[in-house]
Amino acid sequence: MPATQALVEVQHNLLTRLADARSQTDRLFQIVRSEALYKRPIAERHRIIFYIGHLEAFDWNLLSPRMAGLKAFHPEFDRLFAFGIDPVDGGLPSDQPADWPSLSEVRRYVQRVRRSLDAALEKVGEPTLLHVAIEHRLMHAETLTYMLHQLPLEDKVHQPCRSPHSAGPVEFGMVEIPAGWATLGLSRDPTSFGWDNEYEAHSVHVPEFTIDQYKVTNGQYRRFMEAGGYENRSLWSPDDWTWKTEHTVTQPIFWLRRNGSWFYRTMFDEIPLPLDWPVYVSHAEAHAYACWARKKLPSEAQWHRVADRSHDHNSHGSFDFEKWDPSPVNALSRGEGASDVAGLFGNGWEWTSTVFAPFDGFRPFPFYPGYSANFFDGRHYVIKGGSTRTESCMLRRSFRNWFQPHYQYVYAGFRLVSE
Ligand code: AVJ
Repeated sequence: MPATQALVEVQHNLLTRLADARSQTDRLFQIVRSEALYKRPIAERHRIIFYIGHLEAFDWNLLSPRMAGLKAFHPEFDRLFAFGIDPVDGGLPSDQPADWPSLSEVRRYVQRVRRSLDAALEKVGEPTLLHVAIEHRLMHAETLTYMLHQLPLEDKVHQPCRSPHSAGPVEFGMVEIPAGWATLGLSRDPTSFGWDNEYEAHSVHVPEFTIDQYKVTNGQYRRFMEAGGYENRSLWSPDDWTWKTEHTVTQPIFWLRRNGSWFYRTMFDEIPLPLDWPVYVSHAEAHAYACWARKKLPSEAQWHRVADRSHDHNSHGSFDFEKWDPSPVNALSRGEGASDVAGLFGNGWEWTSTVFAPFDGFRPFPFYPGYSANFFDGRHYVIKGGSTRTESCMLRRSFRNWFQPHYQYVYAGFRLVSE
């Protein structure tokens, strides 16, 4: 195939993926009843209306300066909707609904950005920039979902939900991982895309350890709660204890106490606590549980060591928007050895003990220098794997996600190691 034709095909595929990602995020906003679009379901985040404008402003600010013939038509919105990142501990936003433009103005801006970009993208296209636009949007499709998870149920239009995968009782066990090399990162290769923080590829030698076969479940975590885990100061780091006390955190954010029993808030419902689903908690809560269990959270290198050896292919995980809520931790592995580490990709991200920091050879993208570098502040931890709401392109092993340790809203749980 002539080189130019190959390029045309790459371009065509990327434009199809961008169109799919747009339908994905459009569908997400349709879940919200229009009266609720100016609400702020998570105190650290923007109001929902912001994200409708943001997804397009991001694409416009990224692509239009690098494409011939595109001139700004609404610089005020380009700036207003440019950045949507959470402040770390404190400094919560205080804007009011009336500070934001009307829904129809924002929708007009969105349509105009799409029309202008699409006309220009038919001709030109830099694959890396398109990958950035697509993955940025898909990451928001996930972070928006967990934001909408926190909206009162009556503000949402109930969507059809597939019933959970069925599974027998969980037989908890740990898997021995022999000492050996773990491969982290991606090698630079013009035909594959990775974010700035995925480079360079390198190997790390990891001493032997054992790791939980399954993610920690709600049932296991309930025992920690019943043992007084949230009141036992010795299990928490000083910072985490202060956070927990100031914010009166006494349970996972997805749990509800009703008439003396635990319930679980799914995306569209409230159900008795599903004991065999992975627990979703903040890093601080995962760390306290680990201290109680006399184990540790895995490091990023340990997680990779397991992923490198795993037969747990992506083909039967819980991810790619297939479901809204997780499945039992043992529902997803089929066909491979019963003693394999199960469910590394999908069904909930996994917290690591690794502070988010650059690999050797890190170079920020010149067109988006702050994507990772703004978070190399020692106050974010790496999460690996993926959730039910992670698109499959981001299930590549090298993909690194990160959050501050006191963030309870992410679809993230954990498994533990012994060294
Ligand atoms: C990589 C998911 C931590 O949502 O804060 C979106 C992704 N960066 N817009 C985030 C992101 C800018 C980022 N995470």
